[in-house]
Amino acid sequence: MNENNVILTGDRPTGSLHLGHYVGSLKKRVELQETGKYKQFVMIADIQALTDNADNPKKIRENIMEIMLDYLAIGLDPNKTTFLIQSQIPALYELPMFYSNLVTVARLQRNPTVKQEIKLRNFEKSLPVGFMNYPISQAADITAFGAKYVPVGIDQLPMIEQTREIVNSFNRVYKTDLLISPEAILPDDEICYRFVGTDGNTKMSKSLGNCIYLKDSSEIVKNKIMGMFTDPKHLKVEDPGDTQNNPVFIYLEAFVTDEHFKKYLPEYKNLNELKAHYERGGLGDMKVKKFLNEVVQEFLAPIRERREKYEKAKPELFAVLKKGTEYSIEYTNKILKEVKNTIGINYFEDMKFQQFFH
Ligand code: TRP
Repeated sequence: MNENNVILTGDRPTGSLHLGHYVGSLKKRVELQETGKYKQFVMIADIQALTDNADNPKKIRENIMEIMLDYLAIGLDPNKTTFLIQSQIPALYELPMFYSNLVTVARLQRNPTVKQEIKLRNFEKSLPVGFMNYPISQAADITAFGAKYVPVGIDQLPMIEQTREIVNSFNRVYKTDLLISPEAILPDDEICYRFVGTDGNTKMSKSLGNCIYLKDSSEIVKNKIMGMFTDPKHLKVEDPGDTQNNPVFIYLEAFVTDEHFKKYLPEYKNLNELKAHYERGGLGDMKVKKFLNEVVQEFLAPIRERREKYEKAKPELFAVLKKGTEYSIEYTNKILKEVKNTIGINYFEDMKFQQFFH
């Protein structure tokens, strides 16, 4: 079981995926998939989505197919990556029950991601137990697959940390090395850790309405880019401008290559030259935005093409999800069984237990 090359990650199916998801984690998943060195599972985390959408399961149901289309559109490949739906995997319900005895309420309340999310959802006065517990459930997701690596955005680091603590407690209390302590895999480029929204807000997020979605049409993308926040002090073309906190330049940083300059903006060799010009003044926002639009459109073109292809093959997506989920049930049942053996609650397979009844 201790293969040490297993990757598990996932997303809540509450909406379509956007550029922030892409640079924060999706890109890495495709890269890791293509190395051929790992066994990668990608989970549609509908149980977790229900922890703050209990009254709206319809939204979650509808988004499962959307998210599958996003996954395949960016190049995750069902022949190389296993896709699964969280709620269909029994081990993911059973393990949290055991793990929750190893975590204090105070520790959950200190989890920075949970803290922030509680605020965002106005849960301060009436916090659902399920929501509070979701880090434990996430620890189950990761350990049920024996995952060593978890490609996620930086906001998920406290979840990985919490998982590591649960793994340590479990292994210590039950004197075992059964559970594997996971590591997060972050994007290579720090600029992608926290991807800004088109409005300059530090986080691209559906609830803030500042996203460019992977499925946006070229028309919509263009409008969003042309309307992007830049440096508010850069009023006239001659004014010197800031590139550091300027989302247009941050997006360029994430997506541009020198090839793009050759193709669309040959007066500049690279991003440094473009930035220098903007900073000293004399370069207008329009020109930079038009260039960014070319770059993003070029990035999205193959994604759109693949999406169209898969939109015509939805029955296949259903089969892929079903098969991946069935495989995952078996896969995680093996670890679940070992967990039960380790705790000593495998009663009917345990000769020593049966002796009590002789
Ligand atoms: N918490 C993750 C998110 O909000 C989704 C998730 C659920 C996940 N289970 C996971 C991520 C296990 C990594 C590993 O995006």
